[in-house]
Amino acid sequence: MAEDPLSHPALDKAAGEEFLREAFQIILEEAVRKGTDVTEKVCDWRKPQDLQEILDLELRGSGEPQQRVLEHCRDVIHYSVKTCHPRFFNQLFSGLDPHALVGRMITETLNTSQYTYEIAPVFVLMEEVVLKKLRELIGWGSGDGIFCPGGSLSNIYAMNVARYQRFPDSKQTGIWALPRLAVFTSQECHYSVQKGAAFLGIGTDNIYLVGVDERGKMIPADLEKQINKAKSEGACPFFVNATCGTTVLGAFDPLADVADVCERHGAWFHVDAAWGGSALLSRRHRHLLRGIERADSVAWNPHKMLMTGLQCSAFLLRDSSGLLQRCHGANATYLFQTDKFYDVAYDTGDKTIQCGRKVDCLKLWLMWKANGTEGLEKRVDRAFEFTRYLAEEIKKREGFQLVIEPEFINLCFWFVPHSLRGKEGCADYWERLGKVSAGNAGSGVGGEPPFSDG
Ligand SMILES: Cc1ncc(COP(=O)(O)O)c(C=O)c1O
Repeated sequence: MAEDPLSHPALDKAAGEEFLREAFQIILEEAVRKGTDVTEKVCDWRKPQDLQEILDLELRGSGEPQQRVLEHCRDVIHYSVKTCHPRFFNQLFSGLDPHALVGRMITETLNTSQYTYEIAPVFVLMEEVVLKKLRELIGWGSGDGIFCPGGSLSNIYAMNVARYQRFPDSKQTGIWALPRLAVFTSQECHYSVQKGAAFLGIGTDNIYLVGVDERGKMIPADLEKQINKAKSEGACPFFVNATCGTTVLGAFDPLADVADVCERHGAWFHVDAAWGGSALLSRRHRHLLRGIERADSVAWNPHKMLMTGLQCSAFLLRDSSGLLQRCHGANATYLFQTDKFYDVAYDTGDKTIQCGRKVDCLKLWLMWKANGTEGLEKRVDRAFEFTRYLAEEIKKREGFQLVIEPEFINLCFWFVPHSLRGKEGCADYWERLGKVSAGNAGSGVGGEPPFSDG
């Protein structure tokens, strides 16, 4: 006789709980303890074909026994890169914060969406508290914002809001009714500015690249020159992106001077502080972002320097008139009903271009609760001190050469192998030096994969 599907629960709760208990143990042991143990490997790295053979990736008709599934969990962790490992030196990851991790786990477990108060009451209130705190650090007494899935999207949001603010009708009429819009950014900016121009129909040809000085900082006089050039070519300069903490050199554009230029030309002033924004927490280093309070919008990624883990990126606005909501709102009545039994101003989900939106505030909030602003400040200061220490060590060490003195926590250096030392005058010196770290262990010696030494 056929089983009645309604009389059986979809899941075996007891078995599920047992599985969770064992899986948590594996996560704790393999990913957290071993993942942060300097004597363990960052990753048991294998070539794609070998890894395909080792892992049983095939999906089949019938389910596998729990113990086998737990083995898969173990394998997944074992052959993955542990970005929290003390020897994981890839850019933009900063370790494992246990409170942030618990925030991520609670978020995953509750699996709610940030769009309305009725489905995310705690997180709607919490998101506003966290965003307010970030805005205060910028120097804004009021404003708006939203957590976005990454700094790239925060930058793209900025471009869209800037266009809407200048041409509100464009939401309905589209881009064909607009003049040729021009975007200004330094040549050191993050590539998401390029993606945004393409994605929003502005066109990458309409990005005017502004020159930088020897430290990679935007030259305000060149910004003005580029804006005048765009105007003389019939374009409408509507958006300037300045970067705080450029991706490679860690340069901070001179914000106050850039703000003056934006004011003179009526352009939206966006600051991409995805990387460098966290320096605002440090009383010693926040001067790097002097003038940020004059920005119209800011992108800031606590998931980079602050250790919240992916993803945690805030898009912050100085505007408090509801521009973000007007720009992106679609007023879908099935979700954002206006006759609810609470103040629907708490239904913040229509400020975004998404429908379902992951909760990104809890990991930062919990970590902030546990460490306080002072604890986070210490974390930032420590990163600066380590960078200073490393710079001094590099100067002492034969075969290593600083590219520039670090101003932030990016440290760019050359490793000069024996064969090239003292050959700076040779015509092919830079070409050969540039090949030293290409595609292998980063040392140019042996053929070991990057994560092989424990
Ligand atoms: C300056 C800057 N802006 C934006 C981004 C993009 O952030 P995300 O990776 O969160 O999209 C990065 C990432 O490296 C960055 O360094």
